[in-house]
Amino acid sequence: MFPEGFFARADPSPDAAFYSWPRLVTHIDDRAIAAVGALYDELEITGTVLDLMGSWVSHFRRAPDNLTVLGMNDEELAANPQASATVLHDLNDDPILPFEPDTFDAAVCCVSVDYLVRPIEVFTDVARVMRAGGPFVCTFSNRCFPTKAIRGWLQANDEQHCAIVSEYFRRAGGWSEPVAEGRTPAASPGDPLFAVWAFAI
Ligand SMILES: C[S@@+](CC[C@H](N)C(=O)[O-])C[C@H]1O[C@@H](n2cnc3c(N)ncnc32)[C@H](O)[C@@H]1O
Repeated sequence: MFPEGFFARADPSPDAAFYSWPRLVTHIDDRAIAAVGALYDELEITGTVLDLMGSWVSHFRRAPDNLTVLGMNDEELAANPQASATVLHDLNDDPILPFEPDTFDAAVCCVSVDYLVRPIEVFTDVARVMRAGGPFVCTFSNRCFPTKAIRGWLQANDEQHCAIVSEYFRRAGGWSEPVAEGRTPAASPGDPLFAVWAFAI
C-alpha cells in the first residue's frame, strides 16, 4: 500500500522553517468550513479536545469546554479564539505527543494529515492520549502546500486519499474500523470536503 518514496516530500527541510511565519488565512472555503463544523456537531465533539496540526481557526460551531491546539506557529496558535491551551510541536520531528495517556475525549485534524511523514506513529500516539470511545476526525480537501505534502498524497485522487487515511487508522491499531465520507455534494462548485474518522478502542 505504501511503496518506497510514498512519504518523501519535495521539500525535505525541517518544517520549522516553512512554518516560521504566520499564515492567518483559511485553507478551505466557507462551505467546506461549515461542513467541518457540522461534522464535529454530528459526532458530538465536546469536552476535552485536541486539535492536531492546528492554526488560528479550529472550525467548531461552539468551542469545546477545553480545546488544546497543537501546531507549528506560535502567532497562529495565539490568534485562535477557541483554544484553551496551545502547544508548539513538530510531529514530523517527534511523532510522540506531549500528553499523558487518556487525556482527551476527542481529537481532530483539519486539512493537514497530508503533511505527516510518520502518520502511523502519530495515529498510534493519538490513540494513546485518547479516552476509550473518543473519535479522531481527519478532514481534508483537494489542495495543499505541495512542497510539504507527501508524494503519495500528491499522486492520489480524493477516493484514494480516503483510503490512505483509513489505512493509517488500521495500521496504527487502537482504533475502530474507520468511516470515510464525502461531506460536500459531489461535483458541486467549491472546495470538496472529505472526512475519515474512527473511535479509540
Ligand atoms: C493547511 S494548515 C491547516 C491549519 C488548520 N488545521 C486549519 O484547518 O486551518 C496546516 C497546518 O499543519 C500544521 N503542521 C504542518 N506540519 C506540521 C508538523 N510537522 N507538526 C505539527 N503541525 C504541523 C501547521 O502548523 C499548519 O497550521
